Amino acid sequence: MVDLYWRNIWEQKGCHDAKNPNDGALAAMAGRDPETFDRDDRCSKWLKDCLNRDQKKILEVGCGSGLYIDQLSGATVHGNDLSLTMVSHLKSRCASLSLLQCIAWDLPYLDESFDVAFSNSVYMFFPNENRAEKAFREMVRVIRPGGSGAVIDVHDEDKRSAYEKYKLDTLGEEEFLRRKENGLVHLHLSKDWFRVLADELHLNMTILDEDPEVHATAHVKYDVFFTK
Ligand SMILES: C[S@@+](CC[C@H](N)C(=O)[O-])C[C@H]1O[C@@H](n2cnc3c(N)ncnc32)[C@H](O)[C@@H]1O
Repeated sequence: MVDLYWRNIWEQKGCHDAKNPNDGALAAMAGRDPETFDRDDRCSKWLKDCLNRDQKKILEVGCGSGLYIDQLSGATVHGNDLSLTMVSHLKSRCASLSLLQCIAWDLPYLDESFDVAFSNSVYMFFPNENRAEKAFREMVRVIRPGGSGAVIDVHDEDKRSAYEKYKLDTLGEEEFLRRKENGLVHLHLSKDWFRVLADELHLNMTILDEDPEVHATAHVKYDVFFTK
């Protein structure tokens, strides 16, 4: 199973024993660059905007170390992740969050039970489009009519070759090929792939390219925001 390679990586990253890790350590756990992680990025601003519109029951699918949900005061916050170690770590750090381990394409929540649901830097780890589609439909299912959703940090299928060139240049050929052979590759999705689903599910969707200044691979990624 291709997705097992990624799963092992997230289980290992979640085994962090620091009791009060700083933002840099939390970013590293989530596979982010600690130097460029910004608590006031586009995703955080979008979440604040949802809260300001009184959308206060929030779910993060694939919440990792909890960088986006650990400081949402005044909200009822749920998170889940495939990695048991990530979920356990976040539970010990933030007792007020409702957390569970599950897979993004099979969410154990009732229909229309959240004002907001989102995933940040998660879809790239899905094994194929079929799983990504199931995960997106699940996210839409659990959002109430009028609620908001987002899929953030998606690898753009139309920019795949630019991304592969970047990886080849930064990793070198040997490591690049080793990762490919071991299934450590990212899923790429086109913007049209999301637009087709938005039409079918009657979502009002906006797709924004990431700011290339923000981090090294932002030039090949985009963010999807929608209302149901
Ligand atoms: C790059 S981290 C992002 C964590 C967090 N969303 C953030 O932005 O800081 C990716 C997370 O997605 C989780 N993940 C990967 N595949 C998943 C799946 N199929 N279902 C649920 N979570 C998954 C991983 O365990 C990991 O914690």
